[in-house]
Amino acid sequence: MALVNERVVLCPSAVVAMGMLFSHAIVRTPSLSFAEGITTANLGKPDVGRALEQHAAYVEALRGCGLEVMSLPADEDFPDSTFVEDTAVLTAKWGVIARPGASSRMGEILPMRKVLETRFTDLTAIEAPGTLDGGDVCEWEGEFWVGLSGRTNEEGAAQFKRIVEAHGATCQIIDIQKVPGLLHLKTAVARVAPGLMVASGPVRLDAALSGLEVVEPGEGESYAANCVRVNDRVLVAAGHPNLTNALKNKGLTVVEVEMSEFQKMDGGLSCLSLRY
Ligand code: GLY
Repeated sequence: MALVNERVVLCPSAVVAMGMLFSHAIVRTPSLSFAEGITTANLGKPDVGRALEQHAAYVEALRGCGLEVMSLPADEDFPDSTFVEDTAVLTAKWGVIARPGASSRMGEILPMRKVLETRFTDLTAIEAPGTLDGGDVCEWEGEFWVGLSGRTNEEGAAQFKRIVEAHGATCQIIDIQKVPGLLHLKTAVARVAPGLMVASGPVRLDAALSGLEVVEPGEGESYAANCVRVNDRVLVAAGHPNLTNALKNKGLTVVEVEMSEFQKMDGGLSCLSLRY
């Protein structure tokens, strides 16, 4: 498998000082078959050429945050495989190999597992009958939330919680199955700063999330709730000025990234990378 590795130099002590979240990311180039993936979005067919441009800009945005990005080649057999976040959950020291809830995505796991085995010695896989999509896992400094969704089932969430707790971290299961139109927990929730999260719709009201200050995306901006804090910046889908301004008003540095072609395929900004 041809891998492209590019290194961005970021002094480790500077990273720690800013509240280091990540030093690496893994992405996969969209395939030419991308438009054949799963979608409920009704936004029309994605333009693959445009998706490739947007993906390249996304990778540059990650590099701009100081990450070393491993870019995996397109996999034509799996149209959704650019949404690598669903295949695993990674921390600096250990990882969980996911088991996607959509059967058409199950074959994405083995190639990713092979890549992760070159980088991690502590990997645990979700086992059948459990299913877990990485998009259902939200983490902030050792505190995990896992969404029970149409993709992540009770068995998968329970296995994930046990793995997390065995590593000394905490995990709460949040049931989003009754929230209409929500693919994953992180479709609606993002941790963006200590004590601060972005959350939209009914998920915002979940008791498990209480105690945190909430920034709500503006009217018509719920897609942008899937934003990502990467070191000293927050990546936000372009075209959502209310959320962007609200985050800036909280003192956060926002980087806008064009996501239109991925949105057409039910993909959020976080879905395009594994970060650790
Ligand atoms: N199209 C992304 C997903 O449904 O998993």
